[in-house]
Amino acid sequence: MVPKKQIDLKMAVNAISDVIQNRPRPLRDFDQIYMKAGDMVMQSEYVASWADGKRLAFIGDGDSISVCAAYLRQREIVDYGPSKIMVFDFDERIVQAIKRFADKERLDHLDATLYNVLDAFPDVSRYDCFYTNPPWGAYNNGESVNVFTQRGMEAIGYEGEGLIVIADDEDLDWPKQVLGSVQNYASHSGFYVSRMAPRLHLYHLDDAPELRSCNLTISSIPGAAKSFTSEPITSPERLENFYGRSRAPRVRYVRERKRLDYGMAHEDEYELELLEEKH
Ligand SMILES: C[S@@+](CC[C@H](N)C(=O)[O-])C[C@H]1O[C@@H](n2cnc3c(N)ncnc32)[C@H](O)[C@@H]1O
Repeated sequence: MVPKKQIDLKMAVNAISDVIQNRPRPLRDFDQIYMKAGDMVMQSEYVASWADGKRLAFIGDGDSISVCAAYLRQREIVDYGPSKIMVFDFDERIVQAIKRFADKERLDHLDATLYNVLDAFPDVSRYDCFYTNPPWGAYNNGESVNVFTQRGMEAIGYEGEGLIVIADDEDLDWPKQVLGSVQNYASHSGFYVSRMAPRLHLYHLDDAPELRSCNLTISSIPGAAKSFTSEPITSPERLENFYGRSRAPRVRYVRERKRLDYGMAHEDEYELELLEEKH
């Protein structure tokens, strides 16, 4: 972990603003609920420092923390960051938006690929750490978090660290139950909780604007690493209520219809009433 030093906040916020302009609009059906801008600044600086010099896999990343972490370094706002970043997401709009931004800003270490966590994880080269902000598993006792976490563990070959961003609330029961379930799953998979930073981030979430998430860091227990195997996820109890009550997955990929400039208004959002012509 790199020691913290002051960053230029104005430059950092402006960089994050560039990334936000590039993001597709969120699809609530698949739990795409974006983190608020101030929290993205803090989170991406933290991720850049936590994964400094490491190969980092994102299991889903609608928020674009991957892009922010790479871009903060490129802009010399921080002088640390991951050596390689790969985003695995089932939404082609997100994948292509990341690729286009990486291309435009010459973020050579950043890439994205289409992947659904229900499918076996591709046997790609190993990563050192993973990051996931999954569906929060309010109606399946954290099982959707565990599915994303499993893919993260596979990405690092069960050796290294993972940063899991999930709900954390003092008054509600379900986030505590989910945190318990995820910690239990981690410990049965050869990991321990090495850090927990409570109630950090807020989201653009209309029906629960005060619901925060925490950073739950897990680390592999030395000597406990498994060899790489990965199977599709088919068990009904892991899939039921995956995206919320009675919302089991039914989509393999979200496809991009046409290339959009996400920062600009779409033609179907407005019409032009012209100045009257003079005769
Ligand atoms: C589930 S959302 C969680 C909220 C988070 N703040 C966000 O919007 O990124 C995280 C990411 O997971 C992706 N995702 C959802 N279902 C997926 C699946 N079955 N396989 C792979 N990625 C998925 C979404 O496209 C999104 O980018």
